Amino acid sequence: MQRLQDRVTVITGAGSGIGLATARRFAEEGARVVCVDLDEETGRAAAAEVGGLFVRADVTDEDDVARVFATAFDTYGSVDVAFNNAGISPPDDDSILETGIDAWRRVQEVNLTSVYLCCKHVIPYMRRQGKGSIVNTASFVAVMGSATSQISYTASKGGVLAMSRELGVQFAREGIRVNALCPGPVNTPLLRELFAKDPERAQRRLVHVPLGRFAEASEIAAAVAFLASDDASFITGSEFLVDGGISGA
Ligand code: NAI
Repeated sequence: MQRLQDRVTVITGAGSGIGLATARRFAEEGARVVCVDLDEETGRAAAAEVGGLFVRADVTDEDDVARVFATAFDTYGSVDVAFNNAGISPPDDDSILETGIDAWRRVQEVNLTSVYLCCKHVIPYMRRQGKGSIVNTASFVAVMGSATSQISYTASKGGVLAMSRELGVQFAREGIRVNALCPGPVNTPLLRELFAKDPERAQRRLVHVPLGRFAEASEIAAAVAFLASDDASFITGSEFLVDGGISGA
């Protein structure tokens, strides 16, 4: 019997980066994985690779999100884990003086409103089951200033952290655990895209990582698997930092 045996797990942003690595890890640990992504090609490929189900959805669209969890439940009979992870990087110049209102709103929609929608639509299933684990992807920037002028991105991740704490406390006695995962910089397409625009930024960032490197997505996936599993049965409402020591420095 594996740690996540038969746990029905919905992963948003499963087509790439952290979501993809997590889909692989959960499949290895015996879970039934529902891969959700806006990108049909990568999402479908991820689901095929892990022997799971693909649901194409835009996590900013409430009807899409409702359909995701209904499909998971109708297919497998429960929804045990939700990894609400899809997100986008900040606009090119995300300083408070430059970020336009449309870019600001878009980042809040994809990074924060999506998490609100996913929690809103998965909690009713988990309540009926009397158990469930939700992991929402925030970031280390939610807990500390990073001096990188990512105002819309940082605010969205702060919102994810606060909402996760609140829900963790609110639903603890119903057997639903909710945690905010706070990764440091992770070697994924999102980060590579950011650094391609400003190569020096990678070096500036690296200086602040005590472990001296960026994380691999599989290292973040290992933390998600732990938080989702019964090994984390006393952990809820937490800011779970997987940041190579950045916040401790
Ligand atoms: P990624 O860009 O590799 O993957 C994100 C996935 O989300 C893509 O497959 C994309 O198609 C999907 N997606 C984007 N918008 C969507 C939408 N509206 N509906 C459905 N799917 C959508 O990014 P990565 O690095 O794996 O990031 C995942 C999460 O981790 C994000 O929330 C990001 O903010 C967060 N994060 C990433 C860090 C990093 O250094 N890479 C550090 C801390 C947090």
